[in-house]
Amino acid sequence: PPMESLYNMDEIEQVATKQVSRKAWAYYYSASDDLTTKRFNNEVYRSILLRPRVFIDVTKCDLSTSVIGHKVSLPIFVAPAAMARLAHPAGEAGIAAACRSFGAMQVISNNASMSPEQIVENAAPDQVFGWQLYVQVDRKKSEAMLARINKLKAIKFLVLTLDAPVPGKREDDLRGDSTASKLPVSSSLVAKKEAKKGESLPNGAPVPKAGGGGIGAQLFWGTEASLTWKETLLWLSKHTALPIILKGLQTHEDAYIASLYAPQVKGIILSNHGGRALDTAPPAIHTLLEIRKYCPEVLEKLEVWVDGGIRRGTDIVKALCLGARAVGIGRAALWGLGAGGVEGVHRTLEILADETKTCMQLLGVGKVEDLGLQHINTRIVEQQ
Ligand code: FNR
Repeated sequence: PPMESLYNMDEIEQVATKQVSRKAWAYYYSASDDLTTKRFNNEVYRSILLRPRVFIDVTKCDLSTSVIGHKVSLPIFVAPAAMARLAHPAGEAGIAAACRSFGAMQVISNNASMSPEQIVENAAPDQVFGWQLYVQVDRKKSEAMLARINKLKAIKFLVLTLDAPVPGKREDDLRGDSTASKLPVSSSLVAKKEAKKGESLPNGAPVPKAGGGGIGAQLFWGTEASLTWKETLLWLSKHTALPIILKGLQTHEDAYIASLYAPQVKGIILSNHGGRALDTAPPAIHTLLEIRKYCPEVLEKLEVWVDGGIRRGTDIVKALCLGARAVGIGRAALWGLGAGGVEGVHRTLEILADETKTCMQLLGVGKVEDLGLQHINTRIVEQQ
């Protein structure tokens, strides 16, 4: 269908679901165990109410902001997600093209289905990218990737994902055939070998039994599960001068520890991996509220970004009101790609940008930096 006929994230997901392969759908849609966290990621936003003010001139409404010192036109970023070419041949470069027209930031996955060089090839001069790292058991592989990333001017920061030392149990993904050889990648990071029954992965994770193990499990083959704060950040400092954003923090304790590693660590992404790591882990909003309560100084020392469950502009505005600097979309971008390639991702960003703007105007706010706690009521979430 023409992309203009789609009005919200649900409609885009419905179209993508019909168009992508069964295997791609299962990989993208899946989350761990009972999908409790995946559902709650979105539901939590329904429990936060907005507090609109009146008699304010909102003729002009500007969505631009800055993230770790870089100007971006939207407070929305595309979160790192593996294997975009499962959705559409345009892949991660297609997502980059759509981000380019919106001045939106994109984080490239360690397990992208195209090389980082290809993805940033047609970047605008001021386009902002990050690259996400899963530290590999074979450190030499990660070091070689970092050497390549350091050479790419478009890549302004590194995202180190910490919430998935092993993959969660994603049952939709585990069902059905999905051998590594069929993945649309040539990445040396992806295991070519299939695990035998009873064997465990090099990182100690149990090997899933049926159907080749699921795409998620294949991708996690060589991921290190023994990372520690000091050792890993020291190792990283030897291989890159890029600012570091830690992704997958889910407690105020870890947010506080991260702040002790500033300025090497410039930010944190409160995330539960879209519900794909530990089921019944908290949504980012809960973690953000914890941080505000127990260690609000973290918000001064680090930029705090969030992701998970974003489907509406109002979700984005609520996260910004609570102090998030940027708000990530994972599946929404992949579904956009699956629904209509570059145009589909374009439509996804357009809908979310328009909804965010409408929300801010109806709230009586003309600038992202003017959003604050005064615009929301989180009592229901705090009672839970
Ligand atoms: C992810 N995510 C992810 N995160 C990461 O750090 N590296 C990765 O390679 C991937 N891969 C990946 C694949 C797919 C198919 C999904 C859906 C997600 C997690 C992602 O960055 C983000 O945290 C969530 O997707 C956010 O939740 P929503 O927006 O999907 O609800």
